Amino acid sequence: MSKPIIILSIESSCDDTAAAIIKDGKLLANIIANQDVHRQYGGVVPELASRAHQQNIIPVVDNAVKKAGINKAEISAIAFTRGPGLMGSLLVGTSFAKSFAMGLNVPLIEVNHMQGHVLAHFISESANPESKIPNTITPAFPFLCLTVSGGHTQIVLVKDYFDMSVIGETIDDAAGEAFDKAAKIMNLPYPGGPLIDKYAKLGNAKRFKFTKPHIEGLNFSFSGLKTGFMNFINTEVSKNPNFVTENLNDICASIQQTIIDILMSKLKVAASQTNIKQIAIAGGVSANSQLRSTLYQMENELDWQVFIPDFAYCTDNAAMIAITGYFKYLQNDFTTQATTPLARYAL
Ligand code: KG4
Ligand code: ZN
Repeated sequence: MSKPIIILSIESSCDDTAAAIIKDGKLLANIIANQDVHRQYGGVVPELASRAHQQNIIPVVDNAVKKAGINKAEISAIAFTRGPGLMGSLLVGTSFAKSFAMGLNVPLIEVNHMQGHVLAHFISESANPESKIPNTITPAFPFLCLTVSGGHTQIVLVKDYFDMSVIGETIDDAAGEAFDKAAKIMNLPYPGGPLIDKYAKLGNAKRFKFTKPHIEGLNFSFSGLKTGFMNFINTEVSKNPNFVTENLNDICASIQQTIIDILMSKLKVAASQTNIKQIAIAGGVSANSQLRSTLYQMENELDWQVFIPDFAYCTDNAAMIAITGYFKYLQNDFTTQATTPLARYAL
């Protein structure tokens, strides 16, 4: 019997320190340490993120190795997120991965974080005895992936594991940022996306109208919406100081609907232009219940087949880096100790 392929992965591009282990393509461990330190500042503070990564990385990796029940000597390669992301955060993960690979004398695999989000659809848990999720059906190539999070908003045309291109992206804020900034304007804590989702469930989405951007092609823009929303709230609060609290559910439902309308309108154009009906979604915003139900509605209306991974694989995680690393390992696609992180890193 041939030796199993065991990939240990590190993800540290933003404010989550994560490590995962995949054995022959099956996930054995997926550990994540979130950084609560940013909550009080209403957003991620890069300097604090780097320091927290430095504190978290060894316990997180140690935990992953223990959870997977493997011996470090069995690891075949170390995969890590090279970018895009915050430079200080990436430096911690990259340096750790390089040292660990050198110590174990195993190859290094660099992973593009955005490619990881897309390939998260291929994470398989079936070898994990604690898994509650059955092996899900994976999208067939070609498919479209809408990656929406606090840092990214992209429509990716995925022709194969390593043949993908961005056909639309935001020219300013990300969709998650639009949620978080709207929440901040209403004095809701960070990250506000999940709270807007929660209050929106009880509100009337038709109550308030916000201007949508007119952007050419498949690109997105959310900064004008944020300014329009801020002006609207300021005007209303000057007339009634309790405006937000008295109308919270309706405001949340209306702004959420606007963000989703913007995302869906471009996604529909992308699907019809490419003639693709296999639609996948990734990133933290795919947790949004309204976005999910709207997508599933399209299965009936437009004959789409929709793929939404488990939430743990939508938000930043190391399992997506491990599965990408595994596919790269099979292609002998390794990097060297000379590698450096990239804050900007095109797909
Ligand atoms: O992927 P992620 O964990 O981190 C990165 O930004 O890379 O995404 C976090 C983003 C935040 O902007 C958060 O507000 C948003 O995802 N988010 C949501 C929901 N859950 C998380 N936005 C809307 N509705 C949700 N239920
Ligand atoms: Zn991400």
